Amino acid sequence: MSDIRVHNVWMEYGDQIVLENIALDIASGAFVSVVGPSGCGKSTFLRMILGQERPTRGTITLDGAALPHEPGPDRGVVFQRYSVFPHLNVLQNVLIAFEFAESPITAKLFGTRKKAAVEKAQALVEAVGLGEHAQKFPSALSGGQQQRLAIAQALARKPKVLLLDEPFGALDPGTRAQMHALIKPLWRELGMTVIMITHDLKEAFGLGTRLLAFDKPRIDPQAPERYGARIIYDLDLSRDGPVPVLGFSRPMKAREPPKEDRRSSPHA
Ligand SMILES: Nc1ncnc2c1ncn2[C@@H]1O[C@H](COP(=O)(O)OP(=O)(O)OP(=O)(O)O)[C@@H](O)[C@H]1O
Ligand SMILES: [Mg+2]
Repeated sequence: MSDIRVHNVWMEYGDQIVLENIALDIASGAFVSVVGPSGCGKSTFLRMILGQERPTRGTITLDGAALPHEPGPDRGVVFQRYSVFPHLNVLQNVLIAFEFAESPITAKLFGTRKKAAVEKAQALVEAVGLGEHAQKFPSALSGGQQQRLAIAQALARKPKVLLLDEPFGALDPGTRAQMHALIKPLWRELGMTVIMITHDLKEAFGLGTRLLAFDKPRIDPQAPERYGARIIYDLDLSRDGPVPVLGFSRPMKAREPPKEDRRSSPHA
């Protein structure tokens, strides 16, 4: 379970209102794509769910409990620019994430548990296409390869909630497609709740079960920081049918004509 409830949340930095009255429930197991123009507060929203930032007003709960005030192992994250451990090679970076997941205090495993973790780390390194680079240090990887390592590291921890901030932005189309093919079954298998920011609408629609669009509905040209962004569209992408319906979470039923009409109809 990992229900997220966002109750009337505001985020302000000094005089700048970034997010304004965000109210939202995210069901456990949803894959939520988040889109919106640059600077509208998407990363800020994600950092609040991570527990790295606290809203200036309102509350966020995870499974009914107030969100802890700092990031925890239940919430994994891949940032826009992620730094992996520079002193560990690719395989060690992923292995340590498995060790953290299974032995949170010491991050050390021994004997058969260690052997199993090494095998899982190797498989994940292969799955993100870094098999040939397993012994390299992050400084010897390209930007896209570092990002894939960051994704492998986040997945290894099997978080209940996976937060992805433009995780595939730096990847070429082929690698991006590979990462999509990796993440979707893993999301299903692990039952994670995923919140993914992207600037790529095709990706947003292709992966998400729900799409949130953030934007500022009001702009004061004299004081651009006066109003914050809100959720302007909330689309359910999980239902059947070609076109999602704005703002509705369930498919709309075909309307039957009112009874009086049927009585008065010549065919009745
Ligand atoms: N720590 C901070 N202190 C002051 N202002 C901040 C801070 N973090 C973010 N902001 C401001 O909040 C606004 C939203 O930033 P945010 O990074 O959330 O945007 P974004 O939607 O993720 O944009 P992008 O698509 O470019 O990544 C920006 O105007 C930014 O300058
Ligand atoms: Mg951002």
